[in-house]
Amino acid sequence: MIMKYPKKRLRRLRHNKNIRDLFEDVSLSKSDLIYPIFICEGENIKKEIPSLPNQYQLSIDNVNKICKELIKKKIKSIILFGVSSKKDETGLIACSENSIIPKAVKEIKKNFGDELLVICDLCNCSYTSHGHCGTLSDDDVDNDLTIKTLQKQAVFLAKSGADVIAPSDMMDGRVIKIREILDEEGFNKVPIFSYSAKYASSFYGPFRDAVDSSPQFGDRKSYQMNYKNSLEFYEEIQEDINEGCDAIIIKPALSYLDVIARVRDKHNIPIIAYNVSGEYSLIKAGEEKGFINEKEIIMEILYSIKRAGANAIITYHAIDAANYIDENNE
Ligand code: PBG
Repeated sequence: MIMKYPKKRLRRLRHNKNIRDLFEDVSLSKSDLIYPIFICEGENIKKEIPSLPNQYQLSIDNVNKICKELIKKKIKSIILFGVSSKKDETGLIACSENSIIPKAVKEIKKNFGDELLVICDLCNCSYTSHGHCGTLSDDDVDNDLTIKTLQKQAVFLAKSGADVIAPSDMMDGRVIKIREILDEEGFNKVPIFSYSAKYASSFYGPFRDAVDSSPQFGDRKSYQMNYKNSLEFYEEIQEDINEGCDAIIIKPALSYLDVIARVRDKHNIPIIAYNVSGEYSLIKAGEEKGFINEKEIIMEILYSIKRAGANAIITYHAIDAANYIDENNE
């Protein structure tokens, strides 16, 4: 018998919006979004970051304002980055209750309590004079010495009220050491979201302008991962899970959707994707030139990250995306 061509017509299920909606299975909600905030010393400062249009270095008073706006828009999570003009050789300067992030966390928690989940990025690169993520010996970042300052900084962050600690340095063995010290100091309920798979990426360029953390010499390739290696991430993630991390962060997001999808296939641990600064700025530049429809592209990007298997997304687009989600629900 000759089969009528074509028997299977997949377009039948795309015929109109109702039928398309019926089988939609990827969702994006505001509670998936984590908004990054750059915090600097001073008062009444709101300084736009040239390479990150519409993103600002904010003094703590202005952080309060943005937190109010986020809560109103029903964005529930933020991740904080310190901008520090004071720097030293090892980043020890951040290990104090008077350092910028502990001060900011205290203020945010005092004003907003559990209305916002406050995640603190834990790294030394904003605080070292050379811009590397740790303590140098022989012109290289020393793994074990760096972990000592990370442990100290983690304790000050937890003491200030941080809900989550997110180490982004890529030192080996730091998760277990940070877990140990947090537990010893009585913070056994504070989770660690580890940047487990963090690639040495040019997509971080605008961020380094934002916090003035570009390495003064060399690059970060001896600690961040090589994007030409397709297997190493399995080991990095397994190791962090073994060491007791509670969720993992994969970064950047867009050139690494394969990594997100493969981790999702293998592990049940929550995955957060970091839609990084360079990914954001490219969209902003494209929009400014009139090359793209920003709203549609942002939604397509965020959905693709969810479809790959991420549970949550750190993104500078969070506020815009929340507005788009509202518009789509109207
Ligand atoms: C700190 C850190 C970086 C980013 C997040 N945490 C920069 C880096 O590793 O150089 C990048 C985030 C972004 O590009 O948006 N180690």
